[in-house]
This record gives sequence, C-alpha cells and structure tokens, in this order.
Amino acid sequence: MKIQNNLTLVIGGTGKTGRRVKQRLQAANYPVRIGSRTADPAFDWNDQETWKPALQNVDAVYLTYYPDLAIPGAVATVRAFSEQAKENGVNHLVLLSGRGEEEAQNAEQVIQQSGIDWTILRCSWFSQNFSENFLADSINSGEVFLPVDKVKEPFIDADDIADVAFAALTEEGHKGQLYELTGPRLISFADAVGEIAKATGNKIQFIPVSMDDYNAALSEQNLPEEFSWLINYLFTTVLDGRNEYLTDGVQRALGREAKDFSFYAQETATNGAWG
Ligand SMILES: NC(=O)c1ccc[n+]([C@@H]2O[C@H](COP(=O)([O-])OP(=O)(O)OC[C@H]3O[C@@H](n4cnc5c(N)ncnc54)[C@H](OP(=O)(O)O)[C@@H]3O)[C@@H](O)[C@H]2O)c1
Repeated sequence: MKIQNNLTLVIGGTGKTGRRVKQRLQAANYPVRIGSRTADPAFDWNDQETWKPALQNVDAVYLTYYPDLAIPGAVATVRAFSEQAKENGVNHLVLLSGRGEEEAQNAEQVIQQSGIDWTILRCSWFSQNFSENFLADSINSGEVFLPVDKVKEPFIDADDIADVAFAALTEEGHKGQLYELTGPRLISFADAVGEIAKATGNKIQFIPVSMDDYNAALSEQNLPEEFSWLINYLFTTVLDGRNEYLTDGVQRALGREAKDFSFYAQETATNGAWG
C-alpha cells in the first residue's frame, strides 16, 4: 500500500464537510491531521497558541472556520492564521467559504493574498443542515419552524464539497481556482422539507414564522450570542434572494453534475439518519 507524503491539516475534521474530506484522504492513504478542539494536538480558532503545534510539518490545509466567516472578527483571525501557515511552510490553502456573505468574500481575499497557493470553495447552503446538527431535531419532531418563506436555495451536498476539496488537495489544476458550488436545482425550504417527508414516509410540516417570533423562540434556548447573531444574519441578509441562481462549480471541478436534493433525501433516509 503506497503511503502519500503530504500531511494535510483538516480543520473542522469532525464536522459536516471536514469529516468527509478526512475520510477521502485517509482512504487514498494521504496522512491527515484533524484540527479541532477535541483533536490531539487540539486546535482552537479562539486560541492562537494551539495553531503552531497543529501546523507542524503540514503541507496543505482544508480550512473551515467555525461558526461562520461572517462572524465579527473572523476575517482578522483567518488573516492571522494564514500568516502563521506561511511561516510554517504550508504550500496550499483550500478555503470553505459561503455565497453572498460580504465578510466571507473578504476572507477569500485574505487567502488569495496570503502568498500561499489557494483554492476557494464558495458554497450554497448544505443539504446536510437538515440531518446533521442545525435542523435535524426539528425534522425528527415533525415540525420545522423557520423565518423563511418563498426564497429558493440550491442546496449543495456535503459529499460534493468533499469531492471537490479532495480533488483540490490531491490533483493538479485546482490551484488559483474559485469554485462556486451549488446543487443542480433551486428549491424552497418548504419543498426541501416536503422531499424529506416523502423520503422518510414521516409527516413533517414546514411552518414559516416571522423573524421576531423565531428570535423569541431562540431566546428561550439560551444560545451563545454569536449563534443568535448568525441565524439573524443568514435569514435576514443572506437569504434575501441574492443567491437564487445556479452555478457550474461542481461540473467545472469534477467534470460531473452536482447531486440533487432528492438523492440526498433518499440516501439519508435509507441510512437512518432521521429517527
Ligand atoms: N452549513 C452551511 O450550510 C454552510 C454553507 C456555506 C458555508 N459554510 C461554512 O462552513 C463552515 C463550517 O460550518 P458548518 O456549519 O458546516 O460546521 P461544521 O464543519 O459541521 O463544524 C463543526 C466542526 O468545527 C469544529 N469546531 C467547532 N468550534 C471550533 C473552534 N473554536 N476551533 C476549531 N474547530 C472548531 C468542530 O470540532 P470540535 O467541536 O472538536 O472543535 C467540528 O469539527 C463555516 O465557516 C461556514 O461559514 C457553511
């Protein structure tokens, strides 16, 4: 079995896309180090002391910021990290970014100007938000309340993002590329929930609510301030229709179509991810 040489640091390597990138690299015998608070050595975006040990002997980084590049202070943190990455001899940064977020686009520029080879994956909403973390509990409860109504989103499958990241990290031809990654179809949140209901055979209702009512419900959950801020930002600013168009990033990077949401819903239901 051939062991590849280049060590990749996968930040967020237990998260939605990072876990999938790690699996692909390991399956192809590339050495991987996970960057997360629970990894060894631990990596914490909020503690710069943890960055250098995580960057030791690293050739490439799959960079996912948490919770979101739009959070105040994120761009400065990404800049400081890219400087440390350069000092530590990193040769390639693959950045996970979001569409229609001014701050995320500023972070992309930081990476593009870092002096390190880069690839940018500017993504739409992940399909996996319905099954991993954010909306999974409400899908399982049978009632999905969200402060969104008619707007359509081209949900992208985290497997497609991971395939593009893996290609960028292991093949020639992806450096200096900005891939805008969307699924192949614009669908509303109500339709997405409807497709999951169909795939699971469960009754799941989608209930649009006002931002005020949603905030009132959030305040009962005692979420950290930055999460409440982020949810408000996503639903009032980013989901205002600005991202209601499809792109060909998956086709351009991989030479194939992106996975449709209905395929995700069927596959995830079959895997038993929804109770
Ligand atoms: N979700 C979407 O629809 C979407 C769309 C476009 C772009 N994005 C971008 O994707 C990125 C990741 O978002 P996500 O929601 O999908 O999350 P995720 O990757 O599922 O995030 C969880 C991962 O982050 C790690 N983590 C959490 N806090 C950390 C910290 N302080 N320092 C280091 N690692 C930490 C977690 O590990 P530990 O708990 O072990 O630390 C875990 O590995 C964000 O920058 C977001 O802007 C997301």
